[in-house]
Amino acid sequence: MKKTNINTIVPRSTRFFALIVGMALILASCAGSSTPLQPASINAVKIAGLTWTIFAIAGIVFIIVEGMLIYASFRFRSKGRQIMPKQIEGNTRLEIGWTLLPAVVLLIVFLLSIGTLRSLFYQPAQAASASGDPPATLNVRVIGHQWWWEFDYPDQHIITANELHIPENTLVSLDIESIDVIHSFWVPQLTQKQDAIPGHITTIYINAPTPGTYLGQCSEFCGAQHANMLARVIVDPTDQFQAWVTQQQAPVAALSGEAAQGEQVFLSGACVGCHTINGTTAQGKVGPNLTHFASRNVFAGASQENTPQNVAHWLADPQAVKPGNLMPNLHLSQDAINKLVAFLESLK
Ligand code: CUA
Repeated sequence: MKKTNINTIVPRSTRFFALIVGMALILASCAGSSTPLQPASINAVKIAGLTWTIFAIAGIVFIIVEGMLIYASFRFRSKGRQIMPKQIEGNTRLEIGWTLLPAVVLLIVFLLSIGTLRSLFYQPAQAASASGDPPATLNVRVIGHQWWWEFDYPDQHIITANELHIPENTLVSLDIESIDVIHSFWVPQLTQKQDAIPGHITTIYINAPTPGTYLGQCSEFCGAQHANMLARVIVDPTDQFQAWVTQQQAPVAALSGEAAQGEQVFLSGACVGCHTINGTTAQGKVGPNLTHFASRNVFAGASQENTPQNVAHWLADPQAVKPGNLMPNLHLSQDAINKLVAFLESLK
């Protein structure tokens, strides 16, 4: 039987082109704004520093080992002669050397990692508060749900979802937990990966100097929609953050027209069983708090842009948009959907 050679099926130039395109795509996917190699917080800078340090150590080891291999391959070629090389089995000094050297390298990597890990959980502002200076801090509870993140600001009495607003240049402590299964909160440019564990609170810190939007992704497999359990952290200039707090604390404005009709649909339907809207009879705790829904750019675990079209699609059949999520298909009429969209998009 004739052997099939890949060279006869796919020309070499085509395979080379495919390789280049593939590598470009991989690199392009890394070039977005969610790589830990573009750190945007004090802790993320430490993590990136550790990454590059270990990369450099591994690079040096690689160059030495491969260099010796390549050198030996050329320097000691047999050139057709059948010569038995010198046997070094049982050379005590060599055995000790190549056991100790990797152990020392690994010990250095271990100590660097432990040092960085410890420093992530020790924040200067804690020391400042111990000495009597009031630290500029903000505390947020971060609660993982299948499949979205809840953000609870206990001191500001704000509960929101999917989008975490924090002020620039402020030490923010995040108390991370889960309501159901284990998730992991991860915003590559700002935080380490931190498991969200039911019944256990872990506190991590963000201090981000540069305003902007940073993308997060649940990084612990947590069920069918794990991949669509996203988050956005929006670092605001201080005055904009204060404006956001004031807006979020405000009660829902009086509504008229289709939005008011939508509120009636909402309050008289099954919606109230799962969702809270402050100042109304809707006090459900299963789904996201919708009090200022229209002020958010995204919904459904930050997997959907918050547009009237997307909200209408979601209300018509949530399971088609995000299969497995906990919102059932309520079989709403088109009229009810239109009114609900008008209502939800008025919740600024
Ligand atoms: Cu939550 Cu993966």
